[in-house]
Amino acid sequence: MSDTAPIFIRTVSKQDLETVQVLLKDTWHHTYDSIHGKQKVNEMTAQMHDLEALQERRIQPLSEFIVADTGSKIVGVAFAAQLGKIVFLHQLYVAPSHQRNGVGKELLQELFFCFDSAEKMALEVDAKNKNAIAFYEQNEFVKAGETDNCASPDSGIKALVFERPLQE
Ligand SMILES: CC(C)(COP(=O)(O)OP(=O)(O)OC[C@H]1O[C@@H](n2cnc3c(N)ncnc32)[C@H](O)[C@@H]1OP(=O)(O)O)[C@@H](O)C(=O)NCCC(=O)NCCS
Repeated sequence: MSDTAPIFIRTVSKQDLETVQVLLKDTWHHTYDSIHGKQKVNEMTAQMHDLEALQERRIQPLSEFIVADTGSKIVGVAFAAQLGKIVFLHQLYVAPSHQRNGVGKELLQELFFCFDSAEKMALEVDAKNKNAIAFYEQNEFVKAGETDNCASPDSGIKALVFERPLQE
């Protein structure tokens, strides 16, 4: 980890969105370039993380869009939304410089307690993203299925579906 400042978890603000966009782009390249190639990652991140899309998420009902903040820097971001009794974790990204230091777990644990009426959390994780799969298994998620189109109906990216129950 590049600095040792304590991290606090808070709701994203409109002023954060450009910083979050850069964090997502950098972390996507760091994670997926070796799996999908730089060009495909460029295309996907441009489409999924444009400021309008992030702003829509920020105001989406029944959702939580949170960041991990050192006080001087945003080093992680997570977005989850509830549909029926299920909370879908759509994004969980920690800056490469701050990975493997508990930030992902802190963001996740915050989300576990945000959705009172939900019974479980579900997510899709790229089948080749071994580090993230290890992370979710360590946080008590279990494999519940597979999809050929991660994140969007025609992405062509194979993913595993993971789930875990939420507290009563
Ligand atoms: C996956 C991710 C969210 C986990 O957050 P984190 O803050 O790095 O993880 P934590 O410190 O809370 O937990 C650490 C555990 O995660 C897994 N992990 C995270 N990064 C890892 C890495 N580079 N190599 C191997 N395992 C890793 C391990 O299980 C690790 O446990 P260990 O250190 O005891 O082996 C974060 O690494 C990340 O953003 N990765 C890139 C983007 C990504 O894959 N996001 C998930 C998309 S579905």
